[in-house]
Order: sequence, then C-alpha cells, then structure tokens
Amino acid sequence: MSETLIVAQGTKAEKYETLLIQIEGVVGAESDIIANMANVASMIHETFGFWWTGFYRVIDGELVLGPFQGPLACTRIKKGKGVCGTAWQEKVTQVVPDVDLFPGHIACSSASKSEIVVPMLKNGEVVGVLDIDSAELNTFDEVDRVNLEKVAEILCK
Ligand code: SME
Repeated sequence: MSETLIVAQGTKAEKYETLLIQIEGVVGAESDIIANMANVASMIHETFGFWWTGFYRVIDGELVLGPFQGPLACTRIKKGKGVCGTAWQEKVTQVVPDVDLFPGHIACSSASKSEIVVPMLKNGEVVGVLDIDSAELNTFDEVDRVNLEKVAEILCK
C-alpha cells in the first residue's frame, strides 16, 4: 500500500471516488479498527480540509472519543444528545447545515458551523459514529452523505 494520499482534482464526487479507492486499500490491509479509524480520519481531513474529522465509539452505553484530526474535542456523549447522540439513537445520518439551528447541538468548538454525523452499523447496531465539522455553513449535502456512508460501511465490514 502506498502511504501517500492522492487527492483528485475536480468535483467533490470525483474527490470521494479517489478517496474511497484508497480507503478500501488501507482498511483492507489492516484488521485493527483504531488504526483504520486513525488513517481514515486523516485521509478525509486531508482531502477536504475540514475543521474536525473523527470518530466516536460506543463503549459501555456512551459515545467515547476515538481517533480524530483537528482541535481538542468532547470525550463522552450520551445517547440522544447532540448531533452524534441523535445519529446513534435514530441510526440515521444527520446532515446539519447550521449547527446553531440543531436543538441540543454540542459545541466542542465555536468555529464549527455545519456538521455531518454518520452512524456506523454492525449487524443492525450502532458501534460508533463518523463525525465531521466544517467551519463554513452548508458544507454537507447528499454527495457527502452517500460517500461517507460508504466509508462507514467499509470500516464495519
Ligand atoms: N457537535 C457534536 C459533538 C462532537 S464535536 O463536534 C467533535 C454533537 O453535537 O454531537
């Protein structure tokens, strides 16, 4: 496996296409979930230059901070709380165009303006979430949702 990330020029969809191929390669070559989450957080973060990219894992009934890229973050989130806890409870990706309009949003950083949280499902149960914050409003759309759900699927295979 190459250890240099290739970032495609072009549309967001084209960038995801190149990213997904590389994520498949990295995750396919390693069985440790923490190592894979760490590399995947880095690869997404480097490709798009988001504000914060990382994972929370479900441990003993709470979401606990996992590998991430970006500033310091809250370590524990309860089910149903914030965007992450909502994605966990509902088992549905949350696309938040403006975090100030999301009831109960947990502000780890005041610079975060929009967010997407993808639940990671194994045998129908949420085992963690992929959380990405942007410093701009309205960053995430269907292209992000569809592709980041593929990322979660690759990690949970
Ligand atoms: N904003 C998230 C908390 C995690 S941080 O964004 C890294 C939430 O509302 O669940």
